[in-house]
Amino acid sequence: MHLLGFSPCLTCTSLLSAMMVAFPVSSQPRYLIFFFFLQLPMLDSVQFDVIGPVKPILVMVGEDVDLPCHLSPNISAESMEVRWYRNKISPAVYVYQKEKDQKGEQIKEYQGRTTFVRDNITEGNVAVTIHNVRASDDGQYRCFFKDDQIYEEAIIELKVASLGSDPHIHMEAYGDEGILLECTSVGWYPVPQVLWKDLRGEILPLLSVSQTLNGDGLITVEASAVVRDHSVGSASCSIQNPLLNLEKVVRISIPGYIADNTSFQRQTPF
Ligand SMILES: *[C@@H]1O[C@H](CO)[C@@H](O)[C@H](O)[C@H]1NC(C)=O
Ligand SMILES: *[C@@H]1O[C@H](CO)[C@@H](O)[C@H](O)[C@H]1NC(C)=O
Ligand SMILES: *[C@@H]1O[C@H](CO)[C@@H](O)[C@H](O)[C@H]1NC(C)=O
Repeated sequence: MHLLGFSPCLTCTSLLSAMMVAFPVSSQPRYLIFFFFLQLPMLDSVQFDVIGPVKPILVMVGEDVDLPCHLSPNISAESMEVRWYRNKISPAVYVYQKEKDQKGEQIKEYQGRTTFVRDNITEGNVAVTIHNVRASDDGQYRCFFKDDQIYEEAIIELKVASLGSDPHIHMEAYGDEGILLECTSVGWYPVPQVLWKDLRGEILPLLSVSQTLNGDGLITVEASAVVRDHSVGSASCSIQNPLLNLEKVVRISIPGYIADNTSFQRQTPF
């Protein structure tokens, strides 16, 4: 009876171990031999953990960034398979196997943009450098180490940031009601916060706001507000990157009442 339950689970060592307990070694010598046979490949490899950066890594678009990982204990990874991947294990961001790069398994958009840092590979310490970071590189990565039967991985969080251009201001009459202020800026990542403030620093309600994703993965923002009380004198547009906690501000002075429909532009760097 127990032989029937045994056959579908040949690789299941925990069941075998349980059976070893259930059937004393002395009465079932054949199981003992089989048990050691299955364990043999495992005996070659040392159990290890993979340790990645504890905190997210922040990088600006266009810069280079290292995604490091190391083994604990600090055993050599020289003969292991090491890969950095995102959603799918293959193709990957970078693959090291059989002691060399495996370019054939690399995602197209990372080709020519990665370097394997292997100076301390004999201590289980490696990194992949991503060159000329793009907005699309933002997000989660996994570094995966495989030694024979044993594999482990760690998660790396990469946060990509980009500070956009100085805001460009456009002003025009808004019917009889006041003045329409438009603020535009390109090259942000991630989505920035846009505010129009009056002279006293009070936030003006936005008439419209838009974020447009460009081909380079960066965001163009446009925000408009209407100033109805012409006594405000000036207003400022501030665009803030939430990751960097940095902002770009442009202040403009608002002329007196505009009775006609003339549109004009004015840009005053802050
Ligand atoms: C790695 O371990 C070896 C001994 O096993 C030790 O000499 C060495 O200092 C360790 N290296 C690091 C970076 O911890
Ligand atoms: C390799 O290890 C040495 C000594 O621990 C260290 O000074 C060096 O920066 C490491 N190199 C890399 C590329 O991590
Ligand atoms: C501005 O208004 C005048 C009449 O008040 C009109 O003739 C002119 O075409 C308008 N200009 C524009 C750009 O709308």
